[in-house]
Amino acid sequence: MSATTLSCRACGKDHGTTEAAVCSACFGPLDPEYDLERLRTELTRERIATGPHSLWRYADLLPVSPAAEPRLAPGWTPLVSAPRLATVVGVGELYLKLDTANPTHSFKDRVVAVAAARAQELGLQTLSCSSTGNLANAVAARAAAEGLEAAVLCPADLEPEKLIATSVYGATIYAVDGTYDDCSRLSVELSFELPWGFVNVGLRAYYGEGSKTLAFEIAEQLDWQFPDVVVAPIASGAMFSKVTQGFEEFKEVGLVDGPCPRMIGGQAAGCSPVATAFDSGEPFVPVRPDSIARSLAIGNPADGNFAVAAANATGGAIHTVAEDSIGLNMSLLAETTGVFGETATGVTLGALREAVERGQVGENDRVVLLVTGDGLKTPKPVADGFDPVRIGADAEALLELLGVA
Ligand SMILES: Cc1ncc(COP(=O)(O)O)c(C=O)c1O
Ligand SMILES: [Zn+2]
Repeated sequence: MSATTLSCRACGKDHGTTEAAVCSACFGPLDPEYDLERLRTELTRERIATGPHSLWRYADLLPVSPAAEPRLAPGWTPLVSAPRLATVVGVGELYLKLDTANPTHSFKDRVVAVAAARAQELGLQTLSCSSTGNLANAVAARAAAEGLEAAVLCPADLEPEKLIATSVYGATIYAVDGTYDDCSRLSVELSFELPWGFVNVGLRAYYGEGSKTLAFEIAEQLDWQFPDVVVAPIASGAMFSKVTQGFEEFKEVGLVDGPCPRMIGGQAAGCSPVATAFDSGEPFVPVRPDSIARSLAIGNPADGNFAVAAANATGGAIHTVAEDSIGLNMSLLAETTGVFGETATGVTLGALREAVERGQVGENDRVVLLVTGDGLKTPKPVADGFDPVRIGADAEALLELLGVA
């Protein structure tokens, strides 16, 4: 383990390696600090390249030691070229980062792997979280893999596919009559009372670090270069901020040169406090979500202002995507690339199209679009496109229909 201490991202206060959820001075988020000076000499491309084919190849820039026997290790997901979609959208080069290839088909396996490793170091027996669906899946599967208990809090009206995919691992699901933000508040209250490892409360400083590995992998997979642009969805804003931090860290330790990618974020119109804050230049104002992109429906995003800062610092932007375009974007992605992303990905592609429309991204750019979740968990917005040709079990009749007979 190479993290030396947790320090506040907002005010810089040093917190040691305590289990504080947020800064005791200003409630800001805590980040593990690394000895980047030492890593500048010790952490080489060759050292990383000999590591495992998972996120643990970047253990030097993670705050926990990899398990002696890693089980269901996430990460090292494919980065695939999408030339047909690049042409349709109007960008020079387009790559998809397929985090659907993780064990529970979303990027949340990354954050949970790191938080769970910390929970195990602390001897905690139960993994827990508040979730918009994918995090619950990841927590439940990780607990099953490690022989821990799992208890998750989700809005009761989530997509049934996500709730079932969580319960199958033996997790206890608390289906809350309320929004994600209600679940989040409950988990903060319960974290003071229960000896559970709440991955996105007490373990949040460790959890967030898992997302940096998306940036590390993209740079390594592009042969140690940064793309010009990365497009990502935003809910709490944690992943967007941490991916940005990941690129900065790779630069600081001298693994990659050149400017960090411009970070473009997307939010659905039914829940867009961060995109609104980006436009207004003011801190975000919480909203009550009403969106089909359930995984992004966080009305009070903990890292919302940091996501805005990351977009501004990199010369990027954050866009609002119309609700009725989300399913169309899911279909466009599937039809031009063979990749079925979830509603969050419909939002991400919508944000890229908006950025192209506004001239922020174009033919000279090499773009990476994060496919953070799997469409099989959220099929509803594209279900209308299901229109099979009904035929009898008779080849002659089909040939006739095709005009071949
Ligand atoms: C598929 C998917 N993409 C993106 C996000 C956004 O992550 P964050 O809350 O870190 O902004 C989520 C969050 O649940 C998600 O499930
Ligand atoms: Zn602080």
